[in-house]
Amino acid sequence: MTLRTPLCDQLGIAHPIIQAPIGGAAVPELAAAVSEAGGLGMLAMTGLEPEQILERLEATRALTVRPFGVNLILHAEQRAQLETCLEAGVKIVSYFWRLLEPGNPYIDQAHAASALVMLTVGSADEARRAVDAGVDIIVAQGVEAGGHIWGTVSTLPLVPAVVDAVSPIPVVAAGGIGDGRGLAAVLALGAQAGWLGTRFLLADESPVHPTHAMLALGSAETDTVYSSLYDVGWPDSPHRTLTNSTYRSWIEAHSPPTGRRPGEGETVGHFRDGRPIPRYFMGLPTTTRIVDGDVESMALYTGQSVGLVHGRLPAGRIVTNLMAEAEAVLKGLASTP
Ligand SMILES: Cc1cc2nc3c(=O)[nH]c(=O)nc-3n(C[C@H](O)[C@H](O)[C@H](O)COP(=O)(O)O)c2cc1C
Repeated sequence: MTLRTPLCDQLGIAHPIIQAPIGGAAVPELAAAVSEAGGLGMLAMTGLEPEQILERLEATRALTVRPFGVNLILHAEQRAQLETCLEAGVKIVSYFWRLLEPGNPYIDQAHAASALVMLTVGSADEARRAVDAGVDIIVAQGVEAGGHIWGTVSTLPLVPAVVDAVSPIPVVAAGGIGDGRGLAAVLALGAQAGWLGTRFLLADESPVHPTHAMLALGSAETDTVYSSLYDVGWPDSPHRTLTNSTYRSWIEAHSPPTGRRPGEGETVGHFRDGRPIPRYFMGLPTTTRIVDGDVESMALYTGQSVGLVHGRLPAGRIVTNLMAEAEAVLKGLASTP
């Protein structure tokens, strides 16, 4: 049995597996390894300077000739970033946050350059509005996802509701997929691919900080928390992280609002350029970004699927394993008397 969906043909990939854009961990080495294995790798370009974008595109293209995509988070303007990506020939653009606000040029601009547009949504109604606005591929993200979360519904009820709302526009399922069983499950729900962040965060090619990786690999599905705690640099942005000392101190202080939280303004580490990292900073502490600090106390974005991840593996092996497991699950179900 070979699992393939029409979306695989649309994206030019062999397997219905997409490496979610995972902020600073979505580096060329990771994206290229996923694309080389037949999935779709994604680079995160939010807020980067044109030279950095071009460097990342070049580095990825040096490692793979297969398709890959880019992601932009629209919590702040990303016009220059989009323009640079499109001028450099990017053909798959994924957006997160606020794309559907009036006056946004991002869909038309991508289409004018013949790029496919993806949007991460949290409800069937939003998916409908996205399709009306011209979005080509919908990413339905459940609340169990790691990182920033747009909606409040979990993947199991969200995906079929979104599929029903926008069919035949392809839907990709995000949130909670940790292994091939999850991939088989979302395909059974009508999704045309799985979008995995936490699993690929723990790939060998990911610059996840060793402290984050160690804590994640020791975590169960119950060890993440949904909050808006890490708001320095991106206010009012719900997200899922590992439970840590910063979260526990805030809970012990009876969850005070921003401005009255324990340790606000404290420095918990330093970026490579020497700038201090404040407690409650929104950035993911990757090895490429920070030089020292109390990493345990930072924003350790991780999804509930962490309970299914038991070790680091090369990204290509993750893709192969996901496919083998999903195919075995579906074959087993088909042969059940
Ligand atoms: C470390 C991390 C960083 C993330 N950064 C981004 C990002 O830059 N852009 C984006 O659209 N989504 C981001 N997300 C959300 C993912 O795209 C995806 O929706 C989520 O990881 C899926 O759930 P899972 O973690 O259970 O696989 C991030 C997730 C994680 C875990």
